[in-house]
Amino acid sequence: MTIRTLTPADVEEYRGLRLVALHEQPPAFGTPAEKEEKLAIEAVASRLQESEDTYFLGAFLEGILVGIIRFSRFDEANEKHRGLVAGLYVKPPFRRRGVARALVTEVLHRARRDSSLRRIHLTVVTDQNAAIHLYQSFGFCIYGTEREAFSIEGRFYDEHLMELPLQTKASDGNSLSQAKAK
Ligand SMILES: CC(C)(COP(=O)(O)OP(=O)(O)OC[C@H]1O[C@@H](n2cnc3c(N)ncnc32)[C@H](O)[C@@H]1OP(=O)(O)O)[C@@H](O)C(=O)NCCC(=O)NCCS
Repeated sequence: MTIRTLTPADVEEYRGLRLVALHEQPPAFGTPAEKEEKLAIEAVASRLQESEDTYFLGAFLEGILVGIIRFSRFDEANEKHRGLVAGLYVKPPFRRRGVARALVTEVLHRARRDSSLRRIHLTVVTDQNAAIHLYQSFGFCIYGTEREAFSIEGRFYDEHLMELPLQTKASDGNSLSQAKAK
């Protein structure tokens, strides 16, 4: 398996897989497939342009894109220490082979090398048990649940808010060690 950053040159394969994801699992992603289908290919390609704040990873098996994940930082200057994981999807025939685990491992590996990042957040629909188990196995914890976060065709979906602290600093008043000492 090869895990690498996607670029605008991967747009056709990325878009194909993203649409499979949105059609198969609309509640997992919240974005309607019809909205994504209407986007110009150039707009999708520019999404794949890596920047300081965002990138997509792809998992390739025998050269075929079978899994995707997005990492981004929060927008505001005073929130850049928080990262966000989203859009994780593995094509059904390739599931239970460690593809998602490899994608999340690479995102966390990169995040831990960046000392300005302190925690990673994500949201997951409460009935997406596979994804919840996966994230929990990396140490992500549920810290809240947003009721009726969105609706699709009249059905309302709840979302868990999950987070993973990446590091604590001795000088940090919020650090775990200081909290324990109190
Ligand atoms: C969730 C998803 C990404 C997992 O992909 P995958 O490549 O099959 O996952 P992996 O093989 O890497 O499995 C990693 C871990 O995920 C969990 N997991 C995966 N599938 C699971 C299932 N069907 N039931 C319970 N846990 C599951 C397990 O903890 C597993 O670890 P283990 O194999 O050591 O038990 C995939 O099922 C998927 O694309 N689902 C639909 C989209 C989705 O829910 N995305 C998340 C949005 S936040």
